[in-house]
Amino acid sequence: MTEMNTVLYIASDHQGYALKQKLLTWGIDDGHSIIDLGPDSPDAVDYPDFLQPLVMRLKEAPKSRGILICGTGIGMSIGANRFPWIRAALCRSADDVQSAREHNNANVLCLGRDLSDDRVMTMVRVFLSTDFSVEERHSRRVQKISAVPAC
Ligand code: RB5
Repeated sequence: MTEMNTVLYIASDHQGYALKQKLLTWGIDDGHSIIDLGPDSPDAVDYPDFLQPLVMRLKEAPKSRGILICGTGIGMSIGANRFPWIRAALCRSADDVQSAREHNNANVLCLGRDLSDDRVMTMVRVFLSTDFSVEERHSRRVQKISAVPAC
């Protein structure tokens, strides 16, 4: 079980705005806190402008986690994964999220806007409550990703 008091940052673009607002309204499990990094309205924005402040928060606080939402989750995941301390996983099911945490130590969950409310609630719960596997093969593989030099 993931340690308590995880800070969860959340940001979106205009296509992810409605789901972001719903997540803020639902709240997250006791012991965790959620911090909204915008946008503050559904007006059209560029998703890189909202993912970049979130990844910088995770650089300053490596134990925190993030959720990024756009129309598909694809742009957010491509953008976030350019930063070496980020392991952003575009997930569409709770099983995806569980693997992303256990196998990949994902610290950012990327979502598209078309997921049902129930599914998203379960995915976020799994994201916050699942630890990185203690099995050596997973840490070895994640370390190999981190070791790839910037070109
Ligand atoms: C915005 O039009 C759309 O491109 C964005 O939400 C996202 O789906 C990009 O990957």
